[in-house]
Amino acid sequence: MLTPKEIKECPRDDHPRHENVSSQPLNRQKVFNEPHIITKGWYPFCKKTDIQKTQAKSFTLLSQRIVIFRTKDGTLSALDSFCPHMGADLGNGEVIGNKLRCFYHHWTFDQSGNLFEIPCQKYTKSQRPIKIRNYPVVEKYGFIWVFSDEVADHEVPHPPSFEGEVSSVHLKKVVLFAHHHVMMTNGIDLQHFQSVHNLDIKFDFNVIEKEPSVFTWVLSGEIPRTSLLLKIAHYILGGTFNYEVLFAGGSITSITYGINQKFRGRGFTLPPIHILWGASPLKEGVSAVDIFFITKNYPGLLGPFKKLAMHLFTFIVLAILKDDDIKAFPHMRYNVGNLTPEDASLAKFIQLTNQLETSLWTNNGQ
Ligand code: FES
Ligand SMILES: [Fe+2]
Repeated sequence: MLTPKEIKECPRDDHPRHENVSSQPLNRQKVFNEPHIITKGWYPFCKKTDIQKTQAKSFTLLSQRIVIFRTKDGTLSALDSFCPHMGADLGNGEVIGNKLRCFYHHWTFDQSGNLFEIPCQKYTKSQRPIKIRNYPVVEKYGFIWVFSDEVADHEVPHPPSFEGEVSSVHLKKVVLFAHHHVMMTNGIDLQHFQSVHNLDIKFDFNVIEKEPSVFTWVLSGEIPRTSLLLKIAHYILGGTFNYEVLFAGGSITSITYGINQKFRGRGFTLPPIHILWGASPLKEGVSAVDIFFITKNYPGLLGPFKKLAMHLFTFIVLAILKDDDIKAFPHMRYNVGNLTPEDASLAKFIQLTNQLETSLWTNNGQ
């Protein structure tokens, strides 16, 4: 495990893709790790408390500006930010009842982005209808998520082993200094468990494609008894460790550690640990991720303590696994020209990611 000093001294680099372009040309992909592309998926924009009733705010995701507003009755809407009249930023507008009014000349739009009225002018519905593109928006895990297309073909993922209500904690937002697809490969990079984490577990994996844009890796491996920690894990888990990694829309990854895991392999079911990462590309090749811990919403008097214990346990697991990885990402350009048969898990991820649909939010450099 890296020391705090080593973590602090890890290199941070914004432009790994502009280096060595002649001597080590990049093997460009259709979608995977392509910094200008936005896939059709859910993106975390802000905490739900950042937009109160009758507030509007604009946000930029790579090169797409989106206004989110909350109406008087609490409903959220997300629209392209620029007013179709002269292009004022609607984030500077005013929410009046359930409508958003542009600051500049008071054109007013409904929650779907339809032009509702033009003051000082007779606007009739028989005129060419004017509409701003609107996007699905939901509140989940204490955040506001916007889908990068007019129709969402999947939901913000719910933990596979938890039914109904869950308890979530937003740990923090982290800048990766790499594209988020690079981070997403980490949990299924089967070679790095040994090289980075010193965990000599050989995992078998099976890929389930639930929907065209949502796919899940189901992994299972025998726990070796090569250290005291691994001997304890072997005893508690009954010799086998199971986990699942879900990918949704090229922007969300979630890992469930210890899924369907019984005490000593045959006793009561152990509670799984669930972590979800929601990515936001910031600029070319640099993304941020919001990290969420999710646990069951335990009922009863002891519920709050159980939730806290699970969140603390999740934090410890993440700290053990992720601190080591932090050295891998900065400067990493992820050239995929020389994958080996041992990288089959990654090759499959790259293939599926390259099949994802791209959004109009993609930066075509115009
Ligand atoms: S720019 Fe929005 S109403 Fe004129
Ligand atoms: Fe790792």
